[in-house]
Amino acid sequence: MSEPGKQSIRPFGVAVVIALAGGLLVACAPEPMPSAGAQAYQDYCAICHGTRALGDGPVAPELDVPPPDLTLIASRNGGVFPLRAVADTVYGYSGKHEADLMPEFSPLLDGPDVAVPDGSGGEEIMPVRLAEVVTYLQSLQRP
Ligand code: HEC
Repeated sequence: MSEPGKQSIRPFGVAVVIALAGGLLVACAPEPMPSAGAQAYQDYCAICHGTRALGDGPVAPELDVPPPDLTLIASRNGGVFPLRAVADTVYGYSGKHEADLMPEFSPLLDGPDVAVPDGSGGEEIMPVRLAEVVTYLQSLQRP
């Protein structure tokens, strides 16, 4: 048994640290966090597109249109990752083939806007959680 006095103080201290960190997060401009993008991808996208984004998720065989390999987006686009188009697709998918093949993720990926470098000197403005997923996809591109 440890001292009850010390134990009761610790959760309070942790709560203060969390509250302070939360205040800092709100005070600073949001920064996309790559690990959050990877996590969101596994949570929301891997079921169709596969854990490695190769288009081989567990429900892929059930879909009328196979989920594309998301590591080849740039390759399919002449070597350029179409940042804005990918962001728009994920945020509010209008349906290339069928409206409800891929869900719209705007409710899950909303948040304060950030600027994301587009790789050719410009930048695109988008919600920070969307930016995390899209830049994660960008990091997966292969020739
Ligand atoms: C229910 C299955 C499903 C889920 C979940 C899903 N997708 Fe998709 N996705 C698809 C299908 C199917 C297509 C192809 C649809 C089409 O072409 O009409 C697609 C297309 C795309 C495209 C367009 C690729 C291209 O080259 O045109 C992107 C980008 C994409 N998905 C990203 C994502 C991301 C990021 C997530 C998670 C936030 C996600 N998808 C979740 C099924 C899904």
